[in-house]
Amino acid sequence: MGSYPALAFVLLFTATLASSCDGGKVLVFPIDGSHWLNMKILVEALHSRGHQVTVIRTSTSWYISEISPYYTSITITLEEPPSIESQDHMTSFLKRSLEIRRNKGSLWAFIDFYQILFDLMGQNQRAMAKMVTSIFENKTLVKEMRESGYDLLLADPAFPGGVLLAHHLQLPLVLNVRWIFNGEAHFAIAPSPLSYVPQLFSDYSDKMDFFQRINNIIYHSILVYMYHYVANPPYQAVCDKYFGHDVSVMSLVQGADLWLMRTDYTFEFPRPTMPNVVYIGGFQGKPSKPLPSDLEEFVQSSAEHGVVVMTLGTLLRDLGPEISEIIASAFSNLPQKVVRRNIGERPVTLGNNTMLVDWLPQNDLLGHPKTKVFVTTHGGTHRIYEAIYHGVPVLMPHLDQSDNMVRALKARGEAEMVGRTMRMLSH
Ligand SMILES: *[C@@H]1O[C@H](CO)[C@@H](O)[C@H](O)[C@H]1NC(C)=O
Ligand SMILES: *[C@@H]1O[C@H](CO)[C@@H](O)[C@H](O)[C@H]1NC(C)=O
Repeated sequence: MGSYPALAFVLLFTATLASSCDGGKVLVFPIDGSHWLNMKILVEALHSRGHQVTVIRTSTSWYISEISPYYTSITITLEEPPSIESQDHMTSFLKRSLEIRRNKGSLWAFIDFYQILFDLMGQNQRAMAKMVTSIFENKTLVKEMRESGYDLLLADPAFPGGVLLAHHLQLPLVLNVRWIFNGEAHFAIAPSPLSYVPQLFSDYSDKMDFFQRINNIIYHSILVYMYHYVANPPYQAVCDKYFGHDVSVMSLVQGADLWLMRTDYTFEFPRPTMPNVVYIGGFQGKPSKPLPSDLEEFVQSSAEHGVVVMTLGTLLRDLGPEISEIIASAFSNLPQKVVRRNIGERPVTLGNNTMLVDWLPQNDLLGHPKTKVFVTTHGGTHRIYEAIYHGVPVLMPHLDQSDNMVRALKARGEAEMVGRTMRMLSH
């Protein structure tokens, strides 16, 4: 009986603490481009829960705006923008890798693909290391950041600038992650037996025969090589200079406190993981809003046939005239109406059932009851999760074969191959 007053006191005391608890201060180190789309969702969610968010961006950033109702920003001015931020550069990389993948099978195409990947990786990691150095060298800025009293740093470690900054400022580190600088994120923290965990670009599932396993080791070795000779050296130089030789960016990544992993086991092959990994795949799903009136009118005009929605990736802006025409003329034969995001030339064979737009409210269109199918290139997880959220079947030209998620679905019978096209069945 005597312990109840003590318990009541503890409860009351805790309640006081809870009510006086303010929101935290979060420093965000995002990556520009499509990665920002999902980081932005976290930023907005943090803001709506009363946290104060500060986002680090560069003066040449194309997606991360300086002024926002959701965050304050710190703008870093660089002499040369990192090439991940140069849209042309990324577009030409993606086009090039599409071409190579179409000639898949030849050893030359294989070497060419990795050559381009290494070049792009090398450039970007060097640019990111430079950006971090210029932050570290700006003593005023570092002092300001130290004095701001951030509670944690949230970073996307595909280019691990934020990881280094978190260590420099001695802040707890939370990762919003799918890829790190040398491949898929799980490989950095969890045991990943190559006998049943397919490596990036291998196109295998968790059931590999003997030769596939050998190939899987080869794919793995290439990424190990990339880590040692391409991705790590620029960061090791930063670590050596500021933190000492016994620190590497990989050890800092591995020491991150929390991993918000942008995937879900529904779309993954079974594999070991760690207790500080939280699976957030599908977090972008949100109900659709009404369409703008012209679009709504067009969609309604499809009557019982419904609408096909087509868009390419954020970075891959057009497929080149040849493929674009083939798609246009195929679509012109459909009874459905087509809403197509198109940035390149207007295709000549465009049917009168197709509406070309520069930009489309993707989530609102996917959530529209008239939408019958979603056509997109490469399985950018963000848009696939949106389609899954709304239960819209996805049709994907089979160009990017590297998507683990699509293969996982195929292995479960939720996706199938039709000619050279991947179709995902939705429920
Ligand atoms: C260093 O940071 C301060 C404060 O953010 C900024 O005003 C200044 O322009 C920066 N200096 C350089 C050389 O970038
Ligand atoms: C669209 O084109 C087809 C064939 O060219 C034609 O039969 C049809 O009337 C046209 N529809 C509209 C709405 O213009």
